[in-house]
Amino acid sequence: MLRKNKHIYLCGFMGSGKSTIGRLLAEKLNRPFIDTDEEIEKTTNRSVAEIFRGHGEPEFRKFEKELIRKISALQTPSVIALGGGSLMDGETLRIVKETGILIYLQCSADVLKQRLKDTPRPLLKTESIETLMEKRLKGYEWADKIMNNDFSEISKVTEILISEIANNFLSQR
Ligand code: S3P
Repeated sequence: MLRKNKHIYLCGFMGSGKSTIGRLLAEKLNRPFIDTDEEIEKTTNRSVAEIFRGHGEPEFRKFEKELIRKISALQTPSVIALGGGSLMDGETLRIVKETGILIYLQCSADVLKQRLKDTPRPLLKTESIETLMEKRLKGYEWADKIMNNDFSEISKVTEILISEIANNFLSQR
């Protein structure tokens, strides 16, 4: 059983609703919300697409990994939306599993294709959703809870997650 002071991490493919649901979940649980992509953009003063263009993916992954390491050490239990590729890194996955509850927002490739058809996300310019998803799955599958978010109402998903978290993951200890 996890303790009340653990973070709640949301993982899943780009477009799976991590930021939207994360924000609502944080509000309902009265916790701070952190979106790792947004934090990277704030600290580097560049968009994710610019970082990929200017420095390449390895440099972005370095920022991402260091940021997650720092966030994981925060004393205030927070809700954290992880970038879709962050759990590809074994060390990041270990830190996340050690410091929080991991929730996977699962979506089908067809739904994601629709949601991401006009996205500026750099990796989708060179790889298909199916190929990337296959690579990402081995990280997402470590989740403590899998929640489908294909066609669900955001408020319903949040409600279900809150009751799951309260009943199954948060002990008083
Ligand atoms: C990525 C997902 C993006 C962002 C970057 C790379 C990935 O985050 O970190 O474009 O590798 O899957 P979101 O999942 O928040 O869109």
